[in-house]
Amino acid sequence: MPDRYAVIGNPVAHSKSPWIHAQFARACALDIEYTRIEAPLDAFSATVDAFRAAAGRGANVTLPFKQEAFIYCASVSERAREARAVNTLVLDRGEPWGDNTDGVGLLRDLESNLRFELRGRRVLLMGAGGAAQAVLPALCAAGPARLIVANRTSDKARTLAARFEGTTGCGYEDLGGDAFDLVVNATSAGLVGELPALPSAQVLFAPGAFAYDMVYGRDTPFLSYARAAGVRASDGAGMLVEQAAESFLVWRGVRPDTRAVLAALRKG
Ligand code: ATR
Repeated sequence: MPDRYAVIGNPVAHSKSPWIHAQFARACALDIEYTRIEAPLDAFSATVDAFRAAAGRGANVTLPFKQEAFIYCASVSERAREARAVNTLVLDRGEPWGDNTDGVGLLRDLESNLRFELRGRRVLLMGAGGAAQAVLPALCAAGPARLIVANRTSDKARTLAARFEGTTGCGYEDLGGDAFDLVVNATSAGLVGELPALPSAQVLFAPGAFAYDMVYGRDTPFLSYARAAGVRASDGAGMLVEQAAESFLVWRGVRPDTRAVLAALRKG
């Protein structure tokens, strides 16, 4: 019997996680079954309970259940507590335990794959919803010189930033002439083909800057805006693979190599 894992979300049919984890399992010579489970919007807990009862050992949690997963867990890691969200459930060690690997996934993609060192840099995080909240603790811990959270609803950015020392929240209109070395788009604007109301790219990006859109597999208006100004830009494919590798590590105690998987994912 293979060890059972799954990704739980709604919708979940598009999820690349089963494919990614199948590559990891093969590379590590482990007998793992990793499936997609679409939980009804009002039945996340019951869905996880049923998966546990069917010998499910662990699960990734995706939209819109990451906050519910946080509540579901009897205890959580420090990074999940800071993110107030869980994307990795451990179900085979007694009471359900939750972790969040999104932040470290972003960091590993930036620092290991894209060779962008965050320490001492000026960083702008766009968005103040669940996606932004999940990565802000890791960005903060990476030691940037400056970390600004900007959001369409500026009060949400201020409230989120207030939880993290040295971080400031504002609206896009408050950015003025500030330049950044890294701009991370954690808004869902790109999913509907929109661009947040940013200043001109020539002003926003410092020389040698990097633009990162956490959305995967889409040429978002933000990526086009950055590239049109000659700025290096990346979508969230690497983050997707790195957060999966970190979940795999949490479950199995081995960190799979991500390079070949990321290359294959990008090839499509
Ligand atoms: P997620 O879990 O993906 O973060 P969310 O919690 O609904 O989803 O948050 C969506 C984020 O994208 C918010 O920061 C939202 O801004 P508001 O708080 O002002 O709503 C941002 N967003 C969505 N569409 C946007 C757009 N067209 N322009 C700018 N920001 C947008």
